[in-house]
Amino acid sequence: LKKLELAQEHLKQSEKMSTLGQLCAGVVHEINNPLNFICGNVTPAKDYGEDLLRLLGLYAKHYPQPAAEIQQYADVIDLDFLIEDFPKALLSMGLGAERLQQIVQSVRHFSRQDTYEKQRVNIHQGIDSTLTILHNRLKPKGKNPGITVTKDYGKLPLVECYSGSINQVLMNLLCNAIDALEESQVNRFKVTGSAAVQADRFQVPVSPQCSDYCPQGVKQKAPAPPKITIRTKFIGSDGDQGDSSGGQVVISIIDNGPGMTEEVKQKIFEPFFTTKSIDKGTGLGLDICKKIVVEQHGGQITCTSNPGKGTEFAIAIPVGSYHKGLQAKDPNQ
Ligand SMILES: Nc1ncnc2c1ncn2[C@@H]1O[C@H](COP(=O)(O)OP(=O)(O)OP(=O)(O)O)[C@@H](O)[C@H]1O
Ligand SMILES: [Mg+2]
Repeated sequence: LKKLELAQEHLKQSEKMSTLGQLCAGVVHEINNPLNFICGNVTPAKDYGEDLLRLLGLYAKHYPQPAAEIQQYADVIDLDFLIEDFPKALLSMGLGAERLQQIVQSVRHFSRQDTYEKQRVNIHQGIDSTLTILHNRLKPKGKNPGITVTKDYGKLPLVECYSGSINQVLMNLLCNAIDALEESQVNRFKVTGSAAVQADRFQVPVSPQCSDYCPQGVKQKAPAPPKITIRTKFIGSDGDQGDSSGGQVVISIIDNGPGMTEEVKQKIFEPFFTTKSIDKGTGLGLDICKKIVVEQHGGQITCTSNPGKGTEFAIAIPVGSYHKGLQAKDPNQ
């Protein structure tokens, strides 16, 4: 009965996520068209603006004494500032539109419907899309330094897999790393005893080892900046990197967060095991990752973690059968 309840809960959760995913893909699809209008018009608008400013310059050169009404209006609109600021405003609109396009592209790539067949996928593209979607959680905010992401990408062949599912695994592992790093930031600034709790959790520079109250002015070791490293490599079927017939790709996601105790590590792949509050975690993330990697793709997922030493998750996915002559469907064809 317990198993049945678990399975039901699982199904409910994944249905909820799939509805959300469809909704998200729909919204992004609708945003794409108007966004293209903006992107397509920013460059001409910039050119027109520059032409008009040049024309204005020519008028000023040939008619250095404008009529009083023109001079008055130039003062009202603060012409000098306008001339300086107008190209900057257009430039930042262009950059913003470009950034939006990247996000839209990433979400579209991320939420691409899985077909019943595996497809040949560029794993690095999947990682980059996931990072774009997570940008908001990684970037610096106020005194929060943000999380530095280092990409250590090896040379990978295309991997025959269910790309939507693999993206889901990457998303779960990266979210866990971000949660862990945020958690260590919170603990870093936690104040115990009767002393006042710091309102801004990123305000006081306290070393990670110092979870007790540290009075201001006491010299402290600088905390290690939060960091995630994503490493990929290809391991040929004979163990070296030269053979591309078969073999597997290994993707490692390494954080320098608080790590886990042995007791926690033993349970992380159990469904509903979580150390997070009810509004933050369901405890299904790693259970789903394991099912996708091991059952769906015949791969492996391993975790190396020690308290205070950070965490590394590594997933190994077989490259697939197409190297051996069986053609998988290439989505780009
Ligand atoms: N990178 C990590 N660093 C430290 N602890 C981790 C890390 N990744 C996972 N854990 C631990 O493993 C537990 C289980 O992770 P899992 O992803 O299955 O669930 P969750 O993140 O708690 O919730 P959900 O993913 O369903 O929102 C987490 O609650 C956390 O204690
Ligand atoms: Mg999780």
